[in-house]
Amino acid sequence: MKRILITGGAGFIGSHVVRLFVNQYPDYQIFNLDKLTYAGNLENLEDIQSLKNYTFIKGDITDQGLLEKLFNEYQFDRVIHLAAESHVDRSITDPLAFVNTNIVGTVNLLNTAVAAWSNDFKNKLFYHISTDEVYGSLEGEGFFLEDTPYDPQSPYSASKAGSDHFVRAYANTYKLPVVISNCSNNYGPNQFPEKLLPLCINNIKQNKPLPVYGKGENIRDWLFVIDHARAIDTIFHKGKVGQTYNIGGFNEWKNIDIVKLLCDLMDKKLGRTEGTSRKLITFVKDRAGHDLRYAIDASKLKSELGWTPSLQFEEGLEKTVDWYINNNEWLDHVTSGQYQKYYAKQYTS
Ligand code: NAD
Ligand code: DAU
Repeated sequence: MKRILITGGAGFIGSHVVRLFVNQYPDYQIFNLDKLTYAGNLENLEDIQSLKNYTFIKGDITDQGLLEKLFNEYQFDRVIHLAAESHVDRSITDPLAFVNTNIVGTVNLLNTAVAAWSNDFKNKLFYHISTDEVYGSLEGEGFFLEDTPYDPQSPYSASKAGSDHFVRAYANTYKLPVVISNCSNNYGPNQFPEKLLPLCINNIKQNKPLPVYGKGENIRDWLFVIDHARAIDTIFHKGKVGQTYNIGGFNEWKNIDIVKLLCDLMDKKLGRTEGTSRKLITFVKDRAGHDLRYAIDASKLKSELGWTPSLQFEEGLEKTVDWYINNNEWLDHVTSGQYQKYYAKQYTS
């Protein structure tokens, strides 16, 4: 039996990881530690909340005392660490929040794991979830490989790079068994509508402008969130300790093209005349320091551990759109209150 601490399990990716582990491994005990920031939402996990092998704990990874108490009480033997501040635009207006959670919080978790496991690391694992943004911006051809030098360009990616460095430093210094994965852009159900795709889906539903930064020429590599969760499952069970694995969909899109595709799909789904939603596209001020292109080479994960994405992009996008069309209540809850203030500040200044 494994006792697994998953941090950030009430967020977008975390909730899919928690659901997969709780359903697929009834003999594992899953403990979800989440602060429930604006991005954390227990509605994401309503379907599994009463299952016997699942426990939710509200708490902050920057609280060292709490982490010590939890490790002592629940005797975790594995950690899957997803909790983070995750939105690049917010990191530009409030970088310290990213330093606190992404770096200080990660170091707290590392310290607690090393102390709780008392240097007896048999059957222990610290799995750190990271991002392709640590590698910087690709200005031309080529892909990010696991040994691409780090070159973070935003406060968010700098804080994630910092946390990755600490994880590797703890592996080297204290021999903590770690594994790291760096994934490309995720999309799918339950993503907070501050990120490009759910923001545009929500705005199309409401006939509001679709803010595309700059000229929409920036390129991202998109992966369906459940395929990311499957990759995390694969790496957790089959990954080699000390290794890094890149995760991606080999699925690059220019922002303007993905927004147009989404517009056309939404027109069909909402029974609107073809071309209606495209008229909502509005080019707005570019993101400061906007990375031009991310593209992951995930061939190590495929050749060594046998993982490949299960869905074609068009299929994943349709599932995503259907979910947002059918979950008005979820969308209403997360877009009330603070979201309106955030939106006004981000898109009118
Ligand atoms: P998210 O913002 O949707 O969720 C983050 C979760 O962490 C929320 O539930 C939040 O409440 C929780 N959290 C934040 N601060 C916390 C703290 N101090 N203590 C405890 N919990 C806290 O993020 P996401 O998009 O699901 O990303 C999850 C992880 O995956 C992050 O580490 C992110 O860097 C990484 N990642 C994300 C993507 C992506 O496309 N979204 C891609 C690659 C990697
Ligand atoms: O690459 C992985 C990363 O992907 C994750 O580590 C981050 O947590 C996640 O937020 C995501 O970062 P991006 O900055 O790429 O995602 P976002 O959805 O914010 O933006 C995607 C692209 O769309 C990017 O080029 C900026 C652009 N954009 C975004 C928003 C919110 C717009 O043009 N308009 C917008 O309103």
